[in-house]
Amino acid sequence: MKSFLLLLLTALSITSCPQYKQGVQNLHPFDISEKELMKSISNLPAASRDKIAAKAQVFLDLILQLLESPEDLLILVDKEHTLGKQYIPPDLINLQGYSFSLAGNKLELRRMIIPDLLAMVESGREQGIELVISSAYRSYSRQELIYNYNVRSLGRKIADRESAKPGHSQHQLGTTIDFGSIDDGFASNPAGIWLAEHGWQFGFSLSYPPDSEKITGYRYEPWHYRYIGRHGARITREFFLNEQQHFLEFWKQKNLFFRKIRIR
Ligand code: DAL
Ligand code: ZN
Repeated sequence: MKSFLLLLLTALSITSCPQYKQGVQNLHPFDISEKELMKSISNLPAASRDKIAAKAQVFLDLILQLLESPEDLLILVDKEHTLGKQYIPPDLINLQGYSFSLAGNKLELRRMIIPDLLAMVESGREQGIELVISSAYRSYSRQELIYNYNVRSLGRKIADRESAKPGHSQHQLGTTIDFGSIDDGFASNPAGIWLAEHGWQFGFSLSYPPDSEKITGYRYEPWHYRYIGRHGARITREFFLNEQQHFLEFWKQKNLFFRKIRIR
């Protein structure tokens, strides 16, 4: 009788705990079971779903970190989503005065990315790699000049594969950098190889990977990295097969959902 009561009490306390729903354990610290999580991501590519299924709790731990990151860090800017003419990042600073190698004297970025950028540049140097910053923040009107120039010199069809229309460039975010020579040779240059291997550890993610034009709308740009934070870059690499576009589309669609089902 005593052990029956004990069993009953344990069962009652488990079912009333927010971590359990209808006898199914939730994934910490969200009000969602593994089955429900898989249902909520059913529109992701199969390869991503498999990765998430294999490490659901690691995935949600990263989601939890992303919910804490600044809102504008993970804004989707692509051929369909514009920042608009008015958008200017709030904390732009000139890069002169830091220890960066710069290919220009008017290069600006958001202050919030400087600590991780410095850490990355210093880590590269320790391994004999010098990262040169060739292009950084671009205003709407600067991008307009670049795009129009590319259309005139390359024709619209080729220009649209490698140059964003004004308002649609990640460079307007102030968190995106073109490194080195800004040409295809950068992929096989030691700095290009090093960035592809280590950039994510510092929050930098390759925006336009090889063989992804159907996904991103742009041809391979081995020099173009967007800072999406260390957790963002890790989740992109581990769960979205390095397709930043897929991760940012997912985040746009689902960040409120995860915010709502977060416990505490
Ligand atoms: N080259 C990239 C697509 C840009 O213009 O932002
Ligand atoms: Zn670029």
